[in-house]
Amino acid sequence: MGKYILSIDQGTTSSRAILFNKQGEIVHSAQKEFTQHFPNPGWVEHNANEILGSVLAVIASCLSEADVSPEMVAAIGITNQRETTVVWNKETGNPIYNAIVWQSRQTNDICEELKSNGYNELFRSKTGLLIDAYFSGTKVKWILDNVDGARELANEGKLLFGTIDTWLIWKLSGGKAHVTDYSNASRTLMYNIYELKWDEELLSILDIPTSMLPEVCPSSTVYATTDKEHFFGQEVPIAGVAGDQQAALFGQACFEKGMAKNTYGTGCFMLMNTGEKPVKSVHGLLTTLAWGLNGKVEYALEGSIFVAGSAIQWLRDGLRMFNNAADSEQYCRRVDSTDGVYVVPAFVGLGTPYWDSEARGAIFGLTRGTTKDHFVRATVESLAYQTKAVLDAMEKDSGISLKTLRADGGAVKNSFLMEFQSDILNVPVEVPKVNETTALGAAYLAGLAVGFWESQEEIASQWAIDQSYEPKMDEAKRKELVDGWERAVASTRTYK
Ligand code: G3P
Repeated sequence: MGKYILSIDQGTTSSRAILFNKQGEIVHSAQKEFTQHFPNPGWVEHNANEILGSVLAVIASCLSEADVSPEMVAAIGITNQRETTVVWNKETGNPIYNAIVWQSRQTNDICEELKSNGYNELFRSKTGLLIDAYFSGTKVKWILDNVDGARELANEGKLLFGTIDTWLIWKLSGGKAHVTDYSNASRTLMYNIYELKWDEELLSILDIPTSMLPEVCPSSTVYATTDKEHFFGQEVPIAGVAGDQQAALFGQACFEKGMAKNTYGTGCFMLMNTGEKPVKSVHGLLTTLAWGLNGKVEYALEGSIFVAGSAIQWLRDGLRMFNNAADSEQYCRRVDSTDGVYVVPAFVGLGTPYWDSEARGAIFGLTRGTTKDHFVRATVESLAYQTKAVLDAMEKDSGISLKTLRADGGAVKNSFLMEFQSDILNVPVEVPKVNETTALGAAYLAGLAVGFWESQEEIASQWAIDQSYEPKMDEAKRKELVDGWERAVASTRTYK
């Protein structure tokens, strides 16, 4: 048995490879950013071959820098930006269009048409999602409708669809395995999360042939082995797959019903484990598959915030307010409050709980006294307010009051944000020692499949707190701030 698990975390802006040891500790990691394409306003695309290249490059760097040979790897876990859609020709192995990224709004018109035909409830009742350009289904339809010759090739059974996990496994296995896991399938708008099958009725509405779809497998199982030619002459089992947010839930060891995590990445995604029972949302949350493991599936409630860390990036790159995202904290701490300034970063519309794809960002409460410090602080605070709206919806839908929130992702390094988050939620926030919970979750899933780890109990015992933040704000102050935020959001809405 190899000594390490190699986790591949293929995210929205970069690909990473991380080696974990038996204690669930990071041994080494490598990261590479890749190109973001914005062909039209609101569109976001990636080159799927560039993504593959970045993944192979980080695997090579990670192993060589750590001086770990491929045969020392017991298994590979893959976790990925979810919903991002690749369609490729199975004969040539080439994508027929760029990968359409989860953030991309180019299928808004398709979604509007589906909604005006009255399909929202049908899709919701089968997939747990709602009709929105965020999910893969309308992206596949867009490619088939817009790429020359695509529909004919699809009807001849020559095209394959995959989220990024599927694309990577297909390539790493030398084209042998066309597979995905429950968590990724549940984000496509084509998968029936109650009956656990691709849904013929939805596929026919979207006009997508079944032959394009991957086989859906448990999240912890041997999917394939790497093809020697594509993996340094070694056949290593690819044994764990989960969408990045579900992987983070697993890596945070949120195994009990009612446990929740929030990941502050490009966007911000809060997931609550609801156990073997799916909870249908009436407050704008998504019902989603958490994972398939030990012969059963578990579900989660999810709140998806489209812009979180990318708002800080916007301050850095768009407005040139500082050089490093980490500097944002010192600006936040220079003032006691935003003095009534609110930044609503609805750059690509609003996700949970509003689902308003036409809303756009706005700034409120500017005065002659507003400084850069207030502005930066208001942008950072927007992550906490958006999370508060999600948690409120989650508590109403699940009937569970959250005891603590487990937090991870890049922005947890901003301790001002974590303190403010705890104050605004009135709930303690805990940051674990291993903050790379997404990659760790995929590693755990892979390791469980090959016997590297014995059980979820063993995994849960490895989870340890690094920092804990307790709420200190009084109720009246919290209410005043949150009311101000809600007024600001209400003013950005289009109420379509
Ligand atoms: O649903 C989109 C999500 O999976 C993207 O995650 O970490 O790449 O922003 P991230």
